[in-house]
Amino acid sequence: MVGQVGKISQCGKFAPLGEINSGRNKPISTRETGVSLKDMNVSDFEVVGKVSDFEVGRGRAVPYDGRMVAVFRQESGEWYAIDDLCPHMGASLAEGYVEGNSVTCPWHAWRFCVADGTWEDNPRVKVDSFEVQVDGDDVKVRERVVEKEGDVE
Ligand code: FES
Repeated sequence: MVGQVGKISQCGKFAPLGEINSGRNKPISTRETGVSLKDMNVSDFEVVGKVSDFEVGRGRAVPYDGRMVAVFRQESGEWYAIDDLCPHMGASLAEGYVEGNSVTCPWHAWRFCVADGTWEDNPRVKVDSFEVQVDGDDVKVRERVVEKEGDVE
């Protein structure tokens, strides 16, 4: 895309600057706020289940912070989480078909990158994505934080 400024999503799609985040919360950026993570009072990870609750290569919807989040345990060993609510008509993205880092909505086949929430058919739109941490047998989720250099948690 000549002449456009943007970034490549984690699923390899180009997202021009000015992307739209369809969710209610956007990633917290310490670069934008100039405030450290400690000062931002970022919430700790919250346990959403046990490792054995999540099937490899499938999504599972879990409650987190008053909403449903789709957690994906990938064959690669990676874990991802995005908003479970499809922005089209509200299907559960956790019920979608997973192929690589893409999930296809079970109702009308919109595709989303599970790594960063990008809508693959229109990378300017994203659903919220979350950080996932596996701590022993616990699977934990928290809102995504974008750190600037030098930040220490
Ligand atoms: S509800 Fe997801 S594509 Fe329509």
